[in-house]
Amino acid sequence: MILGIDVSTTASKALLLGPDGEVKAVASSSHELSTPRPLWSEQDPEDWWSATCKAIQAVLSEAQIDASEIRSIGLTGQMHGLVLLDAEGSVIRPAILWNDQRSSAECEYIRERIGLAELVRISGNDAFPGFTAPKLLWVRNNEPQNFERVAQVLPAKDYIRYRLTGVFGTDRAGAGGTLLLNLASRTWSNDLLELLEIPSAWLPPTHEGTETTGIIHTEATQETGLASGTPVVAGGGDQAAQAVGVGAVSPSVHALTIGTSGVVFAPCTQPVTDPRGNMHAFPHAVPGLWHVMGVMLSAAGSLQWYRDTFAGNVSFDHLVAEAASVPIGCEELTFLPYLSGERTPHANPHARGAFVGLTLAHGRGHVTRSVLEGVGFGLLDNQRLLMECGVSAPQSMRASGGALKSPIWSQMLADILGTPLEPVQTTEGAAFGAAILAGVGAGVWGSVTEAVGQTVRTGSPILPDAHRTLQYGQAYDRFRSLYPAINGA
Ligand code: XUL
Repeated sequence: MILGIDVSTTASKALLLGPDGEVKAVASSSHELSTPRPLWSEQDPEDWWSATCKAIQAVLSEAQIDASEIRSIGLTGQMHGLVLLDAEGSVIRPAILWNDQRSSAECEYIRERIGLAELVRISGNDAFPGFTAPKLLWVRNNEPQNFERVAQVLPAKDYIRYRLTGVFGTDRAGAGGTLLLNLASRTWSNDLLELLEIPSAWLPPTHEGTETTGIIHTEATQETGLASGTPVVAGGGDQAAQAVGVGAVSPSVHALTIGTSGVVFAPCTQPVTDPRGNMHAFPHAVPGLWHVMGVMLSAAGSLQWYRDTFAGNVSFDHLVAEAASVPIGCEELTFLPYLSGERTPHANPHARGAFVGLTLAHGRGHVTRSVLEGVGFGLLDNQRLLMECGVSAPQSMRASGGALKSPIWSQMLADILGTPLEPVQTTEGAAFGAAILAGVGAGVWGSVTEAVGQTVRTGSPILPDAHRTLQYGQAYDRFRSLYPAINGA
């Protein structure tokens, strides 16, 4: 048995995987999120720990196994967060999360101090308020009494690693999301640390996803029910672990994940960057691979908002069926999905969404379809950006997330992207991926590629229709022209 643990924003999840690739048990325990001020997003690391303990105990009892049967544990979780510990290992202030937007001024400072070209050359990325480094500078600028006490900086899941093993460590995919990693060498960048005046001693050692970072220490056995001495591998940031969990571990297979947000993820055999810094470039959780990705903030979240706001008593299936009877392009109605600002390809936390082109002839089916198309076009923007930066077109995309439950929307997405989509059945992709990395670390499988081949199951591919792909082209051009018109870029 192998255990995958995912410390996500909404919950801590634990998943037990058998060597046959069967998920034996899954359990989760939720986290509170606090927004003490507009744009802030925080959580208490102690809540992650108690939820993680509950989730682990729940899977152990559901599967009715003895903890000593677990050969290895893999960790994944929300990326980019900031946990600050003092010299005693105590948490100094609530963790600042990936979706916190308070550090725009610090991002400006980082760009000025380092220069965008140099920042992208070293780290692969521009400074986004969600990333860790600008948050650390925000604490320096705004909470000097807390900053003075800092002895250790950790991403979210690595605080759980510390509680499980007593050891500091992080995975390289997640480390990329701090903005302090040298992308090519996959180690902390001394240049960036020096320029930003951040002591390197504050950062944990980095490891490849399958490497062991420590073992369960006695202090953690009672609260979790785990056996002392069980190895814990590095795992990966949630997007990289999710990609492993769906089998996106070679350049020809990309991943498409549509939850609240939408992610287009491309593995690469060497670092690929966008000189403008408009997409994210990090190491992959697979040793020796990197990845680039586009993250749109409101994907299925757009449809959820639309239904909750305008059609609360109508089912998603009914709305989507109405949309299916409307022609491609919605008779010139366009939806811009920037309901919570945008991250890629438009790095603009203040971007606004819109319905453009309404007439009396438009009915609810048109409006719903425009939302479905708008989300698809946002994903296409990201896919095109990856190609512009030199990523080759995929043979297929491993697709997962709520949107894939709708055959109509899935077909629309395959047509818009012009790429076959292979639906992946697993609903706990990141925890599943973390378990795969743990299994490879423990020698259950010889490599991540072998593990993925034996465990990841896909449904029949959804093939794009070339004629419809062409028809979407005109509506996409209209969509593209509207971002600058509405958002003044
Ligand atoms: C990735 C990202 C999210 C968070 C939260 O860049 O911001 O996936 O890790 O899940």
